[in-house]
This record gives sequence, structure tokens and C-alpha cells, in this order.
Amino acid sequence: MERLQKILARAGIASRRKCEELIKEGRISVDGRVTTELGVKVDPQKSTITFDGKPLAREDAIYILLNKPAGYVTTLSDPQGRPIVTDLLPGIAQRVFPVGRLDFDTEGALILTNDGRLGQYMQHPRHEINKTYVATVRGTLTPGRISQLEKGVIVDGQRTWPARVRVINRKKNESIVELIIHEGKKRQVRKMLAAVGHPVRSLKRTAYGNLQLGHLAPGKYRLLSEKDLKKIFSGKIPFTFKQIPD
Ligand code: URA
Repeated sequence: MERLQKILARAGIASRRKCEELIKEGRISVDGRVTTELGVKVDPQKSTITFDGKPLAREDAIYILLNKPAGYVTTLSDPQGRPIVTDLLPGIAQRVFPVGRLDFDTEGALILTNDGRLGQYMQHPRHEINKTYVATVRGTLTPGRISQLEKGVIVDGQRTWPARVRVINRKKNESIVELIIHEGKKRQVRKMLAAVGHPVRSLKRTAYGNLQLGHLAPGKYRLLSEKDLKKIFSGKIPFTFKQIPD
């Protein structure tokens, strides 16, 4: 949701101030109703906005895969003034938002889009989109601990769904472990591993469904194609997809 005058200005109608005047003059409608209120917030992907009766061109949908470095927040503004992920997208004019979140100190795959349908679909627990994480943890993960994670552990008073767990490397003081889960509670992986006695030293998300982060360098992004999106949803994109230019 975004302020109407901002959407109008971005669509190239006029400056933001001039767009406010157009709203007050009753020349803008949202879904068929004249809107003269300045504060009104609208979802440009869902609503039809008209100026003097002519619909605004809908912004093309855009889907981005970013390799988020540690040290960035995934909110669109930060009261503490920390760097935000959209600072890493200088070439992107559209107003995109992250699908889900990654902690300030977590790195890896982060999808950003201006298509609210993707965010809603992917975050609905019913759709169980798998996310893969690689964590470096303190201590040596034993088969017993792994099976606890696989069965589900208690985090914030609730049992987590079974995870798929694979140890990549095991040393005396440290283990590297891959976890595949479809839940997305705040700090879930860190809490799951802490619950079995292995605090996380570093954490990276490496895939959404079968869409791998691959060799994208930290801080870099690329646009996602239809083929990429299909990998997230095991073959079939659950909404009408408008191909974006490569
Ligand atoms: N789990 C976490 O603990 N942190 C993240 O950023 C993502 C999943």
C-alpha cells in the first residue's frame, strides 16, 4: 500500500505536489470512485487508478533475487538508520519490497518484488514453500540432535514442523549444517539450533524451493525469469505471470 500521490508521481503524471492538487480537484479515481482525500493508501498492483477517466499504465511486475549481505535490514526504513536492502538496488526504479525477511546478520537469497501476489502466496503457511539455510554452529552436531531437529523442536512454546537436516562439515568445535524448512517465524533457524544446544555463528539462505542462490556475489542481484519462478513453485506459477524483459 502506498500513498496515492506517490503512485501518481511515479507513473509520470506530474510532481508529487501537483498530483496532490489533482486529487483535491477530484480528477483521480480509485476503482471507479473519485478520491479527493490526500492520505489515502492504495495498492497499485490491485487497484485501477484513473486520471481524468484514463487508467494509469500498470507498473510492470518485477522479481529480483538479491544476495543480501549481513549488515542490512529487510524493512524499507530503519529507525536506527542502518543500511536497508533496497540501497543495494540502485538500478531498480520500481518500488519493490522483500518477500519475507532475513535478520540483520543473516545473508543470502532474498526475493524482492512489486507484485503483492508473490509475497502473499509465498508467505502463506498452507503453501509450504521450502527455504534452505546453511548455518555454521558452535559444537559438533550429533545424530541425536539432528533427529530432534528433524522431528521438530519447541521454539517460543510451539513445536516446529519437521526439518530436513544435512551435516555438511563436522569439526570438534564447529559444524556446518543445512536445514530445509517451510516455516518462517522470526529468527526461526537460530532458535531451532539454539534449542538443541548449538548456537548459530553465521547463517545464510541458499534457496527458495529449487531456486538456488548460486554464484551471485554478496550485495549483487539479478532479475528472475519465468523459469526461475517455476523453480520456486515446483513447476507451476500460481498466478498469471507477465514476462519481464531480461
Ligand atoms: N531463520 C533465522 O533465524 N534467521 C533468518 O534470517 C531466517 C531464518
